[in-house]
Amino acid sequence: MLKELEKKILSKKAKIGIIGLGYVGLPLAVNFAKNGFKVYGIDIDKDRVEKLNRGESYILDVPRSDIALVKKEGLLSVTTDFSIIRQLDAVIICVPTPLYKTKEPDVSYIVSAVRNIKRYMKRGQIIVLESTTYPGTTEEVMLPVLETGGMKEGRDFYLAFSPERIDPGNKNYDTKNTPKIIGGISRESTRIASILYEQAVDTVVPVSSSKVAEMVKLLENTFRIVNIGMINEIMLMCDRLGVDVWEVIEAAKTKPYGFMPFYPGPGVGGHCIPVDPIYLSWKARVHGFEARFIDLASHVNSEMPHYVVSKIAEGLNERKQALKGAKVMLMGVAYKKDVKDLRESPALEIISILNKKGAIVSYYDPYLPYLKIDGINLTGSKFTRQSLKTADCVVLVTDHSNVDYDLVAKHARLIIDTRNVLKNAKDRRKIIKL
Ligand SMILES: NC(=O)c1ccc[n+]([C@@H]2O[C@H](COP(=O)([O-])OP(=O)(O)OC[C@H]3O[C@@H](n4cnc5c(N)ncnc54)[C@H](O)[C@@H]3O)[C@@H](O)[C@H]2O)c1
Repeated sequence: MLKELEKKILSKKAKIGIIGLGYVGLPLAVNFAKNGFKVYGIDIDKDRVEKLNRGESYILDVPRSDIALVKKEGLLSVTTDFSIIRQLDAVIICVPTPLYKTKEPDVSYIVSAVRNIKRYMKRGQIIVLESTTYPGTTEEVMLPVLETGGMKEGRDFYLAFSPERIDPGNKNYDTKNTPKIIGGISRESTRIASILYEQAVDTVVPVSSSKVAEMVKLLENTFRIVNIGMINEIMLMCDRLGVDVWEVIEAAKTKPYGFMPFYPGPGVGGHCIPVDPIYLSWKARVHGFEARFIDLASHVNSEMPHYVVSKIAEGLNERKQALKGAKVMLMGVAYKKDVKDLRESPALEIISILNKKGAIVSYYDPYLPYLKIDGINLTGSKFTRQSLKTADCVVLVTDHSNVDYDLVAKHARLIIDTRNVLKNAKDRRKIIKL
């Protein structure tokens, strides 16, 4: 059975299903299709499925032309109907893994996807989980569901974990040229999953188990959250000491070894950095281990929106103005540059704090024309000389590349620069940076 699956994959006759067509699943589906595989996208969101069926893309990194190309060649079909799984040889899960309000992992999307697979699975299929999750999920949550009824992993079907490492908005690295970690439950699964990904990804890195693969992803994201937390604390320290943290980082990064620059900012956002390490600290706690670095970094980072608001109040105060009643305009609300993703964005927290303090908040983001916060719908302002001049304070929150920052520097009356975007501005009197 394994040989047959291998033959199908190598001859590109294997049919691949991708469950969850978001930031991770859609680029992956298109990538496999571009490599000649027949791909079936499955999503519970009818709206997304309809959009794809009309040839539209809702993910910035996936151009419409790519969707059109693979659809024209009959290599991508999308559906909300899970019974298609009966016809597939490989099924890859890319569903969300958020946190509950209690900050505990919510793996219900994975469970729901696995139950749907179980209903329609057939012998000889390879199933891969890509969603970021705590070490042990593939073995402890997925395997028992799939093995109920007598099918055996490594004999009747194959199961592996392969973390997605996509970096939305990154122009140099995408699904194809970012090395892929793969860890199976059995050795057969690691091997067959590696063969599958080798068809569409330049470099595949097999590891000894699904648990190791799950931990690799969490190490990577913990590395980021801890270093961001550390540099945010260094920034707070520099502020107290009267030292320019940005100048310090620029100089430190001339060291050719042993240093990697991280930058302070308004807080961390997105589906990964603020969430994934909490999956790890939760799992560690279950085993009686306290993940102190993660907790400390999360704490420091979550304070950053408050710090940004304190800087706004400070700037207004110097101009004999109160925050209450002041017109504050945020430039960029997405969680990072050049994406239209608002999930966990620190801008949302900044807006919420400003609202509570009585400021009159507006925003501009080239990718997000409207947003909803605290039950209130906000429509983005226009980016004009007038809107910049009207604001008592402009806060640079997200440093999108396609914004005319010279215009901001020229016309805004007071600027809080959380990303050091205006580092070359001549007139620094009205600029306060972190
Ligand atoms: N976005 C990133 O930059 C990124 C990077 C690396 C890893 N990840 C991880 O990848 C996973 C997916 O993230 P994403 O950003 O693509 O999420 P997303 O919200 O953009 O997409 C998830 C998709 O899954 C669909 N879905 C939800 N439940 C489903 C179900 N039961 N069956 C079928 N479809 C379902 C949703 O409708 C949505 O279209 C998460 O675990 C995330 O942590 C994300």
